[in-house]
This record gives sequence, structure tokens and C-alpha cells, in this order.
Amino acid sequence: MSILDRRVVLVTGKGGVGKTTISALIALRAARAGKRVLLCETSGVTQVPPLFGVSGRGYEAVEVAPRLHTLSITSEAAIEDYIVMQLRFRRLYKMVFRNRVVGPFIDAVPGLHDLIQLGKVFDLERTRINGRPEWDLIVVDAPATGHGLTMLASPRAMMDLTVSGPFHDNAHDVAMLYEDPARTALLLVSLPEDMPLKETEELHERLGALRGLVRGLVLNEVHPSPVPDPARFQALYPALRAGADAAGREALDIAESGLLRTARQDAARVRLGALGPPVVDVPFLFRRDLGPAQLAALLPSVESL
Ligand SMILES: Nc1ncnc2c1ncn2[C@@H]1O[C@H](COP(=O)(O)OP(=O)(O)O)[C@@H](O)[C@H]1O
Ligand SMILES: [Mg+2]
Repeated sequence: MSILDRRVVLVTGKGGVGKTTISALIALRAARAGKRVLLCETSGVTQVPPLFGVSGRGYEAVEVAPRLHTLSITSEAAIEDYIVMQLRFRRLYKMVFRNRVVGPFIDAVPGLHDLIQLGKVFDLERTRINGRPEWDLIVVDAPATGHGLTMLASPRAMMDLTVSGPFHDNAHDVAMLYEDPARTALLLVSLPEDMPLKETEELHERLGALRGLVRGLVLNEVHPSPVPDPARFQALYPALRAGADAAGREALDIAESGLLRTARQDAARVRLGALGPPVVDVPFLFRRDLGPAQLAALLPSVESL
């Protein structure tokens, strides 16, 4: 079963490893496969529209490609939605919850901001139009590793905190969605470098009972090998070097450092492979200002997930 057949795909990894890029790729792939897709950014971040060359940001969904919409969740807006749904009156919400006395107490409830964002995605997942889900797939560009983990654990944390009552029941419903491997998939993004790899291994370990949600590990920014046949090159290397002049030696050094990187990447792939879920490579594009054309070029690399 492909990750596209789930209801929700959560993407996390160390800051800067390419979570937003990979989330966009997964969402784009699903949209091109004919699904209606919603790509959610969290904590008020709005990097997706510019990635698709579209202006606009905010809490309302914008279409960035055929069948692909994006929106940015902020916990403030989601809290307001949630409480207004319970209280029915937005003015009452403003009076009671956003005043100077009560506001800070809301912010102090542990994990509430995370839970409320997951709760927003939960509501979006349930939204039906003429009996049909509004979204075939929701991709969540989740916060970086440690925070991503507390976010995933937030429904259980709220259930422990409240024991019973409406908050408990709501958190339970939310937990049921995110703990169901048939409906929710988790993708971990990493780079072929020691620190991000360590973080991925630690996160995988700390996921505990949620480990079964992990459907793929993405090794991002993989450089091509400097020579097509590294083993043959290594075999010829000593003789080449012995016969080379200064320029030749410099050229060989360049190739050699590229080969070292290839070896590090191979080792990284083995480390990730040891965790169990399938590993896919996403090539480095030798530029940082990615746009729609670059996303299209990277698309085949996530095809097997
Ligand atoms: N495979 C890649 N090739 C080239 N640049 C990349 C690649 N993946 C990510 N980037 C760039 O690296 C930077 C960080 O990626 P981003 O997806 O924003 O990471 P995160 O969301 O984890 O912080 C961005 O400038 C992005 O365009
Ligand atoms: Mg990001």
C-alpha cells in the first residue's frame, strides 16, 4: 500500500534537512495521481506558496497546482476555531479566552498548541462534501524532530492530563487517527551527514509504539558519484597518481574527495536501511532557490514511497 492511500502523511526531520521540500514533493505526486490534496504547514510557517511560485499566505487554503491546495495552520487560529465550535460565539471567545487574564493560562497548558494543530488537521480530514471527503490526502509539513515527536504525543498527553470529559474525548478521537497505520503515515527526512542521521535514529527509537507509522526514510541532497565506476577508479588510482603531474594530481584529488562523499552517502543509506522502512534518495540539485521546475525534476525520486 502506497503512502498515497493513507489519509494523512506527516513529514518530519531535523531543521533544514528538506521537510518542506519533501512534503511538497509528496503532495505534488499525489495531486498528479489525481487526488485532491491539502498540504498543511504548521506553526504559522508559509514557505509552500513561494515554492510553487504562487503569492499568498495564510490560514485559508490556496491552490498552488492542479488539485493541490496549501494552508498554514497557526495554533491561535485553530484554538479559536475549536473553542468557537464549542461556544458558538466568536465574540464570547474573544472576551473570555483572549483577555489578559485567561490568555496566558491557555498558553501554559502543556502541549495544547500542538494538540490543537493536530486537531485542526483531524477536522480537515473529516470534512465531507456531498458525503465525499473534501481531501483525498492531507500532507503535514510537521515541526522539526523533537517538537514533531511531542506534537505526535500531544493527544495522549492531553488524555493523561484530563482523564475524562470533553477534552479527553476529543484528544482520544484525534489519537485514534494518528495512531492508525492504515490512515496515517510518517516520513522521516535526513541528510547524509552525521548529525541529521543521529537525529533520525534517535527519533525512530523514541517513537516507541508509533514506530509502525514510519513508511519511508528520505535521504535528501545526495550528490552524484564523480565517476561512473568508483571501484574501477580506486583500482587504477595508485598508478594514475604515480604517473600524474601537479595538475593531474589536483584533478585526482577532486575526484577522490567526491568519492569519499559517495562512500559517506553509501554508509548513510546503510544506517537508515538498518531502521527497517524503505529508504529513498533525493538528489542534490546544486542550487537552493527551488521552484516548480525543480520540484518536477525531483518528483521521480519519491515515486516508490
Ligand atoms: N534536494 C535538494 N537540492 C537542493 N536544494 C534543496 C534540496 N532539498 C532542500 N533544498 C533546499 O534546502 C533548503 C532547506 O530545505 P527545506 O525543505 O526548506 O527544509 P526544512 O523544511 O527541513 O527546513 C531550502 O532552501 C531548499 O530549497
Ligand atoms: Mg520547512
